[in-house]
Amino acid sequence: MTEREHPFNATITAVERYLPSRVVSNFDLENVIDTTDAWIHERTGISERHFLDDEPTSFMAIEVADRLLRKRQISGDEIDLIIVATITPDMAFPATACIVQDRIGARRAWGYDLSAACSGFVYAIVAGAQFIESGAHKKVMVIGADKMSSIINVEDRTTYVLFGDGAGGVLLERSESEEEGLIDFELHSDGSGEDKLCLPAGGSKAPATHSSIDQRQHYVHQEGRAVFKVAVTRMAEVSLSVLKTNGFTIDDVDLFVPHQANGRIISATAERMNLPMDKAFVNVNRYANTTNATIPIALSEASEMGRMKSGDLVQLSAFGGGYTWGSALFRWGSA
Ligand code: ACO
Repeated sequence: MTEREHPFNATITAVERYLPSRVVSNFDLENVIDTTDAWIHERTGISERHFLDDEPTSFMAIEVADRLLRKRQISGDEIDLIIVATITPDMAFPATACIVQDRIGARRAWGYDLSAACSGFVYAIVAGAQFIESGAHKKVMVIGADKMSSIINVEDRTTYVLFGDGAGGVLLERSESEEEGLIDFELHSDGSGEDKLCLPAGGSKAPATHSSIDQRQHYVHQEGRAVFKVAVTRMAEVSLSVLKTNGFTIDDVDLFVPHQANGRIISATAERMNLPMDKAFVNVNRYANTTNATIPIALSEASEMGRMKSGDLVQLSAFGGGYTWGSALFRWGSA
């Protein structure tokens, strides 16, 4: 078992999601760009995605935060910390977490945004858990939210079809029980992947200019094939590694909840791990890649569908731009 020392145990006590109401199918995209439902479906497993209209990312994050409070029947005042994992914050600053904190009346809480692309939620839930485990905080909200439609280029069919908008989140709290909560995690990054998956302009390296806008540099740039290969290798590697460190095998995993980028990445990762596909949760067909939101949305649906029961071993696993990747093991509680 894990040798991590921590006085308190951090467990998930509520999980929620929010998807914008506008659904855009592959067939709808056929009318906008040079693509087909068959191409998208065969290469990615995606059939449709949800797109937000004029609202910013915080709109979805606030919905999730409100739903978490209602689910636990607590007020915003009880929240100590809010972490929002996002690559589409409302603004470069202030942090979207501050906007959520204000709107839900979490007057005692502090908060920050965490940027780790598609691995952001796994990084954030591990970070949030540390504040519970150390005894510093009792209630931490961890939200993954992205309005990917604000940073994808409708003229780039290789990326436009892959993404969607959405948000999901969890409430982390102290548990007295050893039988639930975060068991262990393994996180990595490798900045040599910088140019393979990035948003080239808009930061301090290339502030917005007429030319950067004309060159469409404020949209996601991706070398799809290169990313695909590293994603499968790293996600399988880190997932097996954290299981082994903690004395588990694939047989012990009750539910594998991977980042939902692409159905082929998920099945190739499962194959590499010798993980039966019926242990993997997949909903990328309905939402596409919502970046920081995929894992909490999946957890929320899995919980509603009764796919996890108390005491189950649940493994989260993600890979994303940076490169970043990681996996976290939980014993499911009663959320
Ligand atoms: N519709 C129709 N044709 C298309 C489309 C499209 N939307 N996009 C590309 N094509 C064409 C290309 O132009 C190319 O045509 P050509 O052979 O005439 O040149 C052909 O399809 C093949 O293009 P490839 O890019 O080689 O296709 P590939 O099989 O690699 O699939 C894909 C592309 C789906 C992007 C794949 O590389 C992939 O899944 N990569 C991983 C990307 C990902 O999921 N990233 C998310 C962020 S990272 C993460 O979350 C893990």
